[in-house]
Amino acid sequence: MIKRNKIGIFDSGVGGLTLVKHLFSYLPGYDLLYFGDTARVPYGSKSEKTITKFALEDTEFLLSQGARIVIIGCNTVSAVAYDVLQDNFSVPILDIIFPGVKEALRKTTNGKIGIIGTQATVNSKSHEYYLNRLEPSVKVFSNPCPLLAPLAENNNMSKYVVKSILKTYLQPLVKNNIDTLILGCTHYPYFISEIENLYPNLNLIDPAKQAAQDLKKLLQRDKNLDSQLSKNNHTEYFVSDTPKNFVEVYHRFIDRSLEHVKVVDLEKVLQPKRQELYHDNSIVKIEV
Ligand code: DGL
Repeated sequence: MIKRNKIGIFDSGVGGLTLVKHLFSYLPGYDLLYFGDTARVPYGSKSEKTITKFALEDTEFLLSQGARIVIIGCNTVSAVAYDVLQDNFSVPILDIIFPGVKEALRKTTNGKIGIIGTQATVNSKSHEYYLNRLEPSVKVFSNPCPLLAPLAENNNMSKYVVKSILKTYLQPLVKNNIDTLILGCTHYPYFISEIENLYPNLNLIDPAKQAAQDLKKLLQRDKNLDSQLSKNNHTEYFVSDTPKNFVEVYHRFIDRSLEHVKVVDLEKVLQPKRQELYHDNSIVKIEV
C-alpha cells in the first residue's frame, strides 16, 4: 500500500516549478511530489476536453505515488478542470487562480487589472468570474500569450526577441491603463525581471506565491491534515518525456540540488493493473 502523505503538484511542464520554489520557502521541509507532463506540453492550446483528461490523469498519477493533497500548478487546468477534479477525487485539491485574484484586488488602486494566460485560460474567463464576484466594479483586460509557455520550456531566444514578444502581448493591456497584472500561467514568472524592466510601475501578481501562502494557512488551520503530511525535506520529480529541458530550467531557477528526475510512461502506470506495473520499466530513474 502506498502511503499518502505528500503534497502533490502538477503542471504541463516546468511551469509548476515556480510554485515549488514558493512551497520551499513557505513550507520548508514538507515532502513534495512533482509531475511535469513534458510529453504533452503545452496544455493551453488544447480543448477543454483534452485538458480535463490530462488533468484527471495527472492527478491520478500523483495519488498513485503518495499525494495526500494536490495543488494544481497550472492555471490552465485550474481554469478548465478544477470542478471536475474536485468531483472525482476525495483528497483536497487546491486551485491556483483564486489566490492570485484575491491578491490583485488587494494591490490595485485604480481597479484596472490585466490578465495574461494561455488561450484556454483566457477563453475560460475564470479570472473575470472571480474578480467580478468579489468586486463588481473592477475592469478586467486580458490577452492570451501562446508563445510564452513554449519559450519558458525552451529558452533559446535572444533577449531582444523575448522583449519584443512580451511587448506585443503586454502593450494592449498597458494601453488600457492597468495598474496590476496577473501572471495567469505558472510559466510566466520566468519572465518577471524582463516584464519589470519594461513596465516598472505595474504590480505583478504571481498566483503561485499566493497559492503557497494559502496552503500554509490551510495547514495551520487544519492540524489533522498537517499531521498526516510527511516532512523529510524530500522532493521527487517525475516527467513524462525527456527531462533535458526540465533539468536545465530547474537549475536556472531553483537553488537546490536535484538528485534525479524520473521519466514516467503515464499510459502504462495508469492501466488497470497498476500495482504490478509499478515494478516494471514504466518508471526509469535518470541520474543527473
Ligand atoms: N503552466 C501552465 C499554466 O499555468 C500551462 C502552460 C501550457 O502548457 O500551455 O497555465
